[in-house]
Amino acid sequence: MATALWFLIAPLLLVSATAGTQIKVTNNPADKLVAVLNSNRTAHKGSSLHDNPGLACIALQYIKAYQGQCDDVGGSNAKKPADSEFANTFAPNCGVLASSLTQITGRLLGCQSDYVGPSQAFSDILMKNQKSLDILYNKNHTEVGAAVTGTDGGAPYFWCVLFSNGKTNSSFLFEDGEPKISRPGCFSGANDECSGADGLFQTLHLWPYAITALIVLAYVFGL
Ligand SMILES: *[C@@H]1O[C@H](CO)[C@@H](O)[C@H](O)[C@H]1NC(C)=O
Ligand SMILES: *[C@@H]1O[C@H](CO)[C@@H](O)[C@H](O)[C@H]1NC(C)=O
Ligand SMILES: *[C@@H]1O[C@H](CO)[C@@H](O)[C@H](O)[C@H]1NC(C)=O
Repeated sequence: MATALWFLIAPLLLVSATAGTQIKVTNNPADKLVAVLNSNRTAHKGSSLHDNPGLACIALQYIKAYQGQCDDVGGSNAKKPADSEFANTFAPNCGVLASSLTQITGRLLGCQSDYVGPSQAFSDILMKNQKSLDILYNKNHTEVGAAVTGTDGGAPYFWCVLFSNGKTNSSFLFEDGEPKISRPGCFSGANDECSGADGLFQTLHLWPYAITALIVLAYVFGL
């Protein structure tokens, strides 16, 4: 009798254990990207990184600095926001205390004209080469923040991951103690439901017409 009961309960335990580990992942592609990234790091005997919403908000600002220009992300014309932008623009826009800014130990940025899910963005857009892998597995990282946005709610789509060596409780802190959510775009770590309704996919209905004309641009660069 007890054995029979166990067989009934065991699958339920398994399901709830799985649900428990995913409880922090909301319906948010940036959160899902962090989950994919962390599971890849741990599979390679690396540590799982703390998902810091302040850092992630800054990753979204980092994307916005490109003003939708995919061409500026990689290739011979690659541009990069000045480091001073972190303190002067990104942190204030996020309501992150300038005094809590911590060293950025790595960044990954990719841009593509069509939207793919977080797992595919990770493997196909962000993990393009050995340099990306070196950034991913760097042992100096302790924290991560990810963001994704479409320009004006449509293509092109930018994915950005920032890494830091900050301490969980003292880096990238919000002035109000609460994440300052900004749209359009989604960032990780804030327990923020962020999907189609928030303007990431506003132009989705145009896709059947636009898809044949799409030229896929995908770039990635790292620091
Ligand atoms: C981690 O990601 C890299 C790059 O996408 C991939 O080659 C590797 O197979 C992944 N490892 C695991 C365990 O998923
Ligand atoms: C880690 O940080 C140390 C000290 O800042 C630096 O010397 C080293 O190059 C870093 N390691 C990597 C893999 O970036
Ligand atoms: C830092 O955060 C951890 C986990 O959230 C908590 O247990 C700890 O008390 C915090 N430490 C400080 C100094 O606030």
